[in-house]
Order: sequence, then structure tokens, then C-alpha cells
Amino acid sequence: NKKINVAIDGPAGAGKSTVARLVAKALSYVYVDTGAMYRAATWYMICKEIPAENVEKVLQHVPELVIELVPDPTGQKVYCNGEDVTTVIRSMEVTSKVSQYSSIAGLRTRLTENQREMAARKGVVMDGRDIGTTVLPDAEVKVFMTASVQERASRRFKELNGADDITLEQLERDIAARDKFDEEREVSPLRCSEDAIVLDTTHMGIQDVVDTIVSYCAAKK
Ligand code: C5P
Repeated sequence: NKKINVAIDGPAGAGKSTVARLVAKALSYVYVDTGAMYRAATWYMICKEIPAENVEKVLQHVPELVIELVPDPTGQKVYCNGEDVTTVIRSMEVTSKVSQYSSIAGLRTRLTENQREMAARKGVVMDGRDIGTTVLPDAEVKVFMTASVQERASRRFKELNGADDITLEQLERDIAARDKFDEEREVSPLRCSEDAIVLDTTHMGIQDVVDTIVSYCAAKK
């Protein structure tokens, strides 16, 4: 039974991380959340008070970034230069700024290298925006997960459960804006790889999506 790599891309809130985690569990593979890495980098730059507009300054600090994803019974812990940032990278401030930092080429090069290292020995389920197109173009299974923006916003809204002071309409606008920024950036934009399987999950349950992807993997192993 040979190990393969699985790339899962798609817009914000399509359920990629939930699904990717469950697929990894079903296959006993390692889950890699690349969005968490961009979020950790964003958190770090915010702490250093370096705005995304100051590309030169951001790039000066990229070499010192050490981002670790550590498996944990509760899911996954994210560390940035030794600090546990698992919770803080989900804040509204990081969420609203992450796309801007993510459009900086030199930051992407660095995180892409880290992601390729993690996948070098295969047996990885990686989710993000550019995994099938740029990070792991040779991944044996590539999935592009989508859902209508209304459905994605409503899932996020339920997940937040009133934790953030934000309306459904605002969430919808934020998600649409982040998608647009990710799709229109110059370096590694959010795009469906030609050889990816497109899964529109608007009317699919989580388990259906997981089972579908696991069956694609079984066919490739
Ligand atoms: O997946 P998540 O919503 O946590 O990703 C946060 C942001 O990180 C995305 O909106 C995108 O700007 C950036 N990202 C990226 N490339 C990836 C993963 C995430 O540019 N592979």
C-alpha cells in the first residue's frame, strides 16, 4: 500500500480543514493546514508592527519565522517562534489581514518550501489555496472544494455561534472580499488545478465529502 499526497484547495469557509482532517484520520496520514501557516506569519508581523504594505520590512523578518504544526488530541496546535498561537490566529484582526500578507511573493516562497518538506515523504493531506497548482503539483489526488458564498458564510456563522460580534451579512461580504483578493493576486492565486476533482459541497454533508475523497485516494494507492 503506497503512500500518496492529497491536495485540497478552495475558497474560504468551504469546509476544507474539517474535511482534510477527517480524510487524514481515515488514511492515518498527516494533516497540514497551510492557511494556519499564513495566519501565523500574519500574527507575527502584526506583533512586530510591520504592515503588509511595507514589503521590504516584511521580507527582512521572513527568515526568522519558525512555524510548527503539532498534532494534538484536540486537532492541531500551531506554534510561531515557540509561542502557541493556535487560538489567536483565528482572530478577526488576523483574518482580515492575512490575504494581504499572503500576496507577498517572498513570504510565499518560504512557506512553500516548508510545506514541500512536510510532504516529501508522502502520506500528507494538505489544504490551502495553491497546493494542487504550486506547492504539490504532483499530488496523486487533487480536490477543489467549493460551496456557494451564502452557504459558506452560514456555516462560518454557525461555527462562531455568537463568539464574534459579526452579522451573517458582514461575514458574507468578508468571505467574498477575501476570495477576490486570493483569486486576483499575482503569485499563486486561488485557482482550480486542471487535473483537480471539483466538489461543490453546497448540498453535501461532511461525511459524504470525506467518503468521496477517501474513495478517490483508494483508487490511487
Ligand atoms: O484557509 P484559511 O482561511 O485559514 O486561510 C487564510 C488565508 O491564508 C487565505 O485567505 C489566503 O489569503 C491565505 N492562504 C494562502 N495560501 C494557502 C493557504 C492560505 O494564500 N495555501
